[in-house]
Amino acid sequence: MGESKTLYVGCDSLDADEIRLAASKALEALKKTNVRTVAIGTYSNDCPGINIKALVEGFILGSYTFDTYKSKKEPSKLETITICLEDCSRVDLSLETATKALRAATIVAEATNFAKAIVNATPEDMTPIALAEMAQTLTSIPNVTCKVMDETFLKEQGMNAFLAVNRASVHPPRLIHLTYKPENAKKRLVYVGKGLTYDSGGLSLKPSEHMVTMKADKSGAAAVMAILKGAATLALPYEIHAIIGATENMIGGNAYKPDDVLVAKNGKTIEVRNTDAEGRLVLADCLCYAQELGPDLLVDMATLTGACVVALGEYTTGIMGHSSELKHSMLKASTASGELSGSLPFNKYLKKLLKSSVADMSNISTSRYGGAITAGLFLDNFIEEAHKDKWLHLDIAGPAYIEKAWGYNQFGASGAGVRMNLYWMIDDTKRGDQ
Ligand code: BES
Ligand code: ZN
Ligand code: ZN
Repeated sequence: MGESKTLYVGCDSLDADEIRLAASKALEALKKTNVRTVAIGTYSNDCPGINIKALVEGFILGSYTFDTYKSKKEPSKLETITICLEDCSRVDLSLETATKALRAATIVAEATNFAKAIVNATPEDMTPIALAEMAQTLTSIPNVTCKVMDETFLKEQGMNAFLAVNRASVHPPRLIHLTYKPENAKKRLVYVGKGLTYDSGGLSLKPSEHMVTMKADKSGAAAVMAILKGAATLALPYEIHAIIGATENMIGGNAYKPDDVLVAKNGKTIEVRNTDAEGRLVLADCLCYAQELGPDLLVDMATLTGACVVALGEYTTGIMGHSSELKHSMLKASTASGELSGSLPFNKYLKKLLKSSVADMSNISTSRYGGAITAGLFLDNFIEEAHKDKWLHLDIAGPAYIEKAWGYNQFGASGAGVRMNLYWMIDDTKRGDQ
């Protein structure tokens, strides 16, 4: 028996997110030591006891290390964490409830870490083809299938806006379609992710300092893959689709240009005025494809605008859509999951700013202001009437990639949007039971 030591971690309150934070900080400290086993009690002076789910999520989120590109890796020695329930007789927590909480939290946090790993991969490693291969690996989970489509399919489908963005890239595009279809599905949830494996801005080239971190422009894609992975592992009773438009946005003699007019899958025409507003072009075609599935819920996730970061700050996801109820339910799930989000309201005046003299719409607004919302309203042009109230647009440009660690988010990708959507689903299964 080695000697036993005690690690004390401060905790502002017993709120779930403070527990996540404390657990992740404890884990980060333990990673740097030679400690192999730790035990933690779940008792507290103030009962009702510590939230096991938050504790486990904090440990697993804190355990993530991004060292793929370090030649010298320093793997943690930590092997086992024992959570002691000795004091749980005082609170209403059976071993069965605790085990369930442990399992759910592990799956949610591991899905989040899965998204981080995809986003952190370099643009040369995580090309559209590599992203598709990553998606294929999820078919080892029961009831998960994956279809990968190339340019021929995109051409057949008239997905010309998506194809235009890809044109100057040496890496061909991929439309990735993952499906999780259990027998007892109650609803069909369709997720669409922006999968820009690199965004140079195209001919409307980004300034150098803004180009760094643009490997993270595939964060929406990583999130929707991770959500499907989490939901399928939890065997949730939903049919779930994750659709990803994977491409780079590059420069070259054959690049698409400001002044081009593109015809999207639904026949609408788009005047290109800025090739850096490329995510909405890819999403427009993918949203048309997604709606053919007849979704009960349609969520798109994207690092869509710098304006969203200006509006809400770098910690917060922008939630947009037409249904107040749906937006509210996602905001609630987000708070419960420990993710920050805020609602950005649509209005008809902002929508008018997308008018074009040459095509049905322009890909950018005529105003400098309200850019996150006008991007959302651009996407609205591709949402059919029947799906308006079933649609949410999540702009994760702020929280998806972290340049200065905060909370339990390490430097690099955060897996933004994964936890809030899995919490939304878990909550929705309960709503259905009532
Ligand atoms: N990928 C960017 C948005 C972005 C910015 C994500 C910062 C993460 C951090 C997107 O494609 C983009 O460049 N948007 C433009 C839109 C503009 C041209 C209307 C932007 O935000 O500047
Ligand atoms: Zn861009
Ligand atoms: Zn982009």
